[in-house]
Amino acid sequence: MTDPPGAPRHLPVLSQESIELLRPRPGAVVIDGTLGLGGHARLVLERVRPDGRLLGIDRDETALEVARRRLAGFDPPPVLRQGDFADLAEIARDAGLGRAHGVLLDLGVSSPQLDDPDRGFSIRRDGPLDMRMDRRLPLTAERVVNELSERELTGLVGRLGEERWASRIARFVVQRRPLHTTRELAAAVEAAIPRAAWPRDLHPATRTFQAIRMHVNDELGSLERGLRGAVDVLSPGGRLVVISFHSLEDGLTKRFLQQESRDCVCPPQQPVCTCGHRASLRILTRKPLRPTPDEVAANPRSRSARLRAAERI
Ligand SMILES: C[S@@+](CC[C@H](N)C(=O)[O-])C[C@H]1O[C@@H](n2cnc3c(N)ncnc32)[C@H](O)[C@@H]1O
Repeated sequence: MTDPPGAPRHLPVLSQESIELLRPRPGAVVIDGTLGLGGHARLVLERVRPDGRLLGIDRDETALEVARRRLAGFDPPPVLRQGDFADLAEIARDAGLGRAHGVLLDLGVSSPQLDDPDRGFSIRRDGPLDMRMDRRLPLTAERVVNELSERELTGLVGRLGEERWASRIARFVVQRRPLHTTRELAAAVEAAIPRAAWPRDLHPATRTFQAIRMHVNDELGSLERGLRGAVDVLSPGGRLVVISFHSLEDGLTKRFLQQESRDCVCPPQQPVCTCGHRASLRILTRKPLRPTPDEVAANPRSRSARLRAAERI
């Protein structure tokens, strides 16, 4: 199966590790909650045939279109839906696929989203301040940058960007408003951070852009609901694989898996259990898996990837 001419090249991150842990078998039902360009999905489809099914979800209609073309040769074809993986259990129910044997979440944005200046994700190419993965939704980066108070911007950039210069950045942004383009935002951040403090291997506005993007798309909120949805939809023995690129996402995933792998989640000082919580997952990765140096050399975007996996009890 070959890509149509002109289709963007795409390397799925931690592909071998994720497929080994997801363990898609012939006849399995697998949900890819972050279909992207269908790189991981293709590897799954090759393993679940002849009668397995793949449900591919993405918020981005452009990604869905590309994936649809790239996966067109599979029979039966994958079921593709535009939506938020936060609603994964409902989407799976509507698609009528029953319980799943695997759920994959490969978080964040895809390279074509970053590379298209019109989407407003890119620091280096000028474009409108958009950053929406789903362009049907009303909240854009332009609204966030121009409508939040200085205090709210400081909190947002500090928390989601883990940026120590957050309050100066917020002050400079507010002074220069209205901002309409990615270049204008990047320039405000460049001016706010003293040159001597610019990171060596990152553009100085990277953390700010990341924070605004995560807010626009409510990425942590979706992840929290998506993890819960995955537990609801997986059948016993089914597997969940999560690849994150951000320490807050990885931290959230880690805490969720730890909590769901315990029979009691009462505070440790409480002598008798009153929560009645029962473990729903068994953790498969004590420590997160990281890409090999070879993978990072071939695909620099994989640099910060961390993979965690668990099995439904
Ligand atoms: C890193 S890419 C996935 C790449 C994919 N695994 C592949 O091999 O081509 C992440 C994709 O997830 C989508 N995405 C991010 N958050 C989402 C969410 N909450 N719901 C649905 N899709 C989401 C993005 O639009 C993007 O296309």
